[in-house]
Amino acid sequence: MITIALPKGRLMEETIEVFSKASINVEIPTSRRLYFYDSSSNYRFLIVRAQDVPTYVERNAADLGVVGRDVLNENASDLFELVDLSIGYCRMVVAAKDTECFKKNSTIRVATKFVNIAKRFFAQKRLNAEIIKLYGSIELAPLLGIADCIVDIVSTGRTLKENGLKVVEEIFESTAVLVSNRVAFYTKNEEISQFIELLK
Ligand code: PRP
Repeated sequence: MITIALPKGRLMEETIEVFSKASINVEIPTSRRLYFYDSSSNYRFLIVRAQDVPTYVERNAADLGVVGRDVLNENASDLFELVDLSIGYCRMVVAAKDTECFKKNSTIRVATKFVNIAKRFFAQKRLNAEIIKLYGSIELAPLLGIADCIVDIVSTGRTLKENGLKVVEEIFESTAVLVSNRVAFYTKNEEISQFIELLK
């Protein structure tokens, strides 16, 4: 049996659709149980926070995982990237009320969930940045004056628009990737290869 860590939320539903098209029949449990099996019991799925998928796979609690490039880029993990699943498309951007915000401040205050991505971005640009770590509702920070800009993911763009923010710069595009534990990739190579074949 192969164990696959799935990210809770929007991306999990898209992932289940991809699996259904590959004839892997799964239903997300309506109970609070955090693991479930496909109808053939060949696969066990774990429901975890998106940011935790790399940890479960790296520590071999799961052989495989589905994770966005946004999460992979934020946390350096020792994993194999096997297949780009072409789902969960979003963009990592810098956004602000004022698109000239880089020019106006000697130290730019940046609110974000993605501290490492933000630090790297501003370091590459040789701009001084004070990173303000938040866990959600990032778009509020510039509105309330505690940040000059944000680094966050944009999907439909509605959250930015409805909070009066504009994209200043795109950092990268993100989609979901199937990742593997490095040891499991060799010890369960046959099962993992079969799984990838189904997805093609
Ligand atoms: C994410 C992200 C944006 C929003 C973008 O937040 O941090 O706030 O989605 O989506 P949109 O472009 O389609 O509007 P999430 O919904 O995960 O909530 P959070 O702010 O609590 O993290």
